Amino acid sequence: MNQDNNRHTMQIKETRIVLKNAGKINPMRIDDYTQAGGYEGLRKALQMKPTNVIDELMDAGLRGRGGAGFSTGMKQKFTSESCQRCPQRYVVVNADEGEPGTFKDRVIMEQDPHLYLEGTIIAAYAIQATKGFIYIRAEYYDSIKKTRKAIEDAYKAGFLGKNILGSGFDFDVEVKLGAGSYLCGEELTMLESLEGKRGNPRIKPPFPAEKGVFGMPTLVNNVETLANAPIIIANGKEWYRKLGTERSPGTKIFTISGQVNRPGYYELPLGVSLKQLIDLAGGMRKGRPFKAALLGGAAGTFVDASMLDEKMTYDNLREKGATLGSGAVIVMAEGDPVYDILHNCLRFFRHESCGKCVPCRVGTTQLVRQADQLKAPEGNKEDLLKQMVRESEIMAGTSLCPLGQSPILPLESAARYFKKELCNPV
Ligand SMILES: Cc1cc2nc3c(=O)[nH]c(=O)nc-3n(C[C@H](O)[C@H](O)[C@H](O)COP(=O)(O)O)c2cc1C
Ligand code: SF4
Repeated sequence: MNQDNNRHTMQIKETRIVLKNAGKINPMRIDDYTQAGGYEGLRKALQMKPTNVIDELMDAGLRGRGGAGFSTGMKQKFTSESCQRCPQRYVVVNADEGEPGTFKDRVIMEQDPHLYLEGTIIAAYAIQATKGFIYIRAEYYDSIKKTRKAIEDAYKAGFLGKNILGSGFDFDVEVKLGAGSYLCGEELTMLESLEGKRGNPRIKPPFPAEKGVFGMPTLVNNVETLANAPIIIANGKEWYRKLGTERSPGTKIFTISGQVNRPGYYELPLGVSLKQLIDLAGGMRKGRPFKAALLGGAAGTFVDASMLDEKMTYDNLREKGATLGSGAVIVMAEGDPVYDILHNCLRFFRHESCGKCVPCRVGTTQLVRQADQLKAPEGNKEDLLKQMVRESEIMAGTSLCPLGQSPILPLESAARYFKKELCNPV
């Protein structure tokens, strides 16, 4: 790695579609939102058949922005088709936003709450759900306040409640608060929490689409995912597909922090490179050379300078052994210790493990202990690191839920790119 990593690539500008109103309208005024074209997507959706709404989102290629990148339309299709005899279908909005380095949903909720609320109503119509919950982490005071105000005003304006806009469709929604558990952002654990139980995960399958909250078919979507729905319905799938790439259409809100001049949130078409994102964020702080980035938060992967020009899409990064995840990007400069960030991730998993299953409960504790030993003066560090990766592989194969399957991601990628440093941490 050398100064060449700081060379300039083609400078790009933000493409704001989800954030088009951010900073421009008063998020506490529904009229500001409707004057900016708000609720037109819902009006249009209500004139379509629910299955056509699903097809439109599926053909637009919208993929879940919560981390996994699963097809939103497909998920809606599964949910709408499962258990036809069930008396109730639910939509649950995942606004828990617990992944370290991620703050994109907060921006949507604080600056344009009606956008994702509109998306929630569209999703409910698509799967014919009559009840929804928005699960927001309790620390997000402003998001909670603005979402509650948006809900209140949407009821008054006839966008929520009985016979929405005279369509015959009924939908009610309420806010529920999380209590700061990372694990409760995992969809099945969130459903347990919504039912008033301890935040322990459920075994999958059944998936929420089959058996979700209170045993009913449930669609769980991230805030940013739902915020895309009104835009797609209002503008059409062809328009949407012009943004991003063939397999990852649309935009993504990246949250970049660490050693850049202007940390913050940036909305860009999927397929931009890490280098372009860093340039947009003002370049490396004090002109220091780039060393590494952690993509996707603690449950994400480290990359080195060889990945700077790779397209940031769900599939391309996966093929290169990296993750896009929630869109969090934590940038490190030459001289910053990768060991410290990795150690933090491992401590985070130990802290957030619910302790229900042995591989994760014991494994997360053991990995922190072994990471401490990497700093000890004696011992074969290469063997130790290899053993840690092996253990995290075993955890990934045997843990009950995705939390125990996550330490492998930062650990294996850090070991792949920075083995020498990890075996000789300062
Ligand atoms: C430990 C853990 C924490 C998670 N936290 C969040 C979160 O805070 N927000 C979120 O949207 N998804 C989170 N997810 C992903 C959800 O389980 C789920 O995939 C997502 O809400 C689906 O929505 P999407 O299809 O719109 O992305 C988490 C997953 C795991 C395993
Ligand atoms: S993997 Fe970890 S967080 Fe998940 S159930 Fe097991 S102990 Fe709990």
